[in-house]
Amino acid sequence: MADRLRLGVNIDHVATLRNARGGTLPDPVRAARVAEAAGADGITAHLREDRRHIRDADVSAILEAITIPLNFEMAATEEMRKIALGHRPHAACIVPERREERTTEGGLEVAADQNRLATFIAPLSEAGIRVSLFIAADPAQIAAAHRAGAPVIELHTGAYCDLHAEGETEARDAELARLVDGAKRAADLGLEVHMGHGLTYDTVGPIAALPEVAELNIGHFLMGEALFVGLPAAIAEMRRAMDAARG
Ligand code: PXP
Repeated sequence: MADRLRLGVNIDHVATLRNARGGTLPDPVRAARVAEAAGADGITAHLREDRRHIRDADVSAILEAITIPLNFEMAATEEMRKIALGHRPHAACIVPERREERTTEGGLEVAADQNRLATFIAPLSEAGIRVSLFIAADPAQIAAAHRAGAPVIELHTGAYCDLHAEGETEARDAELARLVDGAKRAADLGLEVHMGHGLTYDTVGPIAALPEVAELNIGHFLMGEALFVGLPAAIAEMRRAMDAARG
């Protein structure tokens, strides 16, 4: 069993709301501070090519504001690697990125791009940044992530959560079984396992219960809940649900 399951709070959607008006409010840096005070174990933020979430200046402001680790989500591009090397966050999660997508829809294609990714992540690892690859729970992708030299993978829980929301319980359970199997395979290879995307109070339990999982990254749902109950209360309730599932 991994040590205490960590909760990384993704603050992207505070920035999305700010950007909708083009001003400075609400401030994603304040959200990072509040999340830390509410018990988050890390902050996650995605600097997208189109800057629809956080912007360049947010990265240093977040790093100055928090004492917990920053997990910097980024596409495998030269521009983003330079920014990551400039800031040296605790962790970098490499994600696929398409301009036209609403969110990170699928996992990274590692199996077909293993050599390029190995070369891409090596300088990040050498700089002391803990690199994870955001992938589907597919045995070929997990094995390729290991061969590419990533110490961590994050498995995409989006399909599991979508199927749950649609009431497709059989398909949801099949997807959950893939995640369970993926976590086991990855742990057998010595990879640290994270999971995230779309998780809610309703879907987090079976994921948090997996002994191989070390960290969950959760954003959109928490920010939505925060509108009604406040961010500290939403984080506290998620923490409670995770701890209850972990037993
Ligand atoms: N993990 C990764 C790699 C992501 O790209 C995202 C979404 O930005 C999340 C976790 C969090 O997903 P959600 O905002 O749906 O909780």
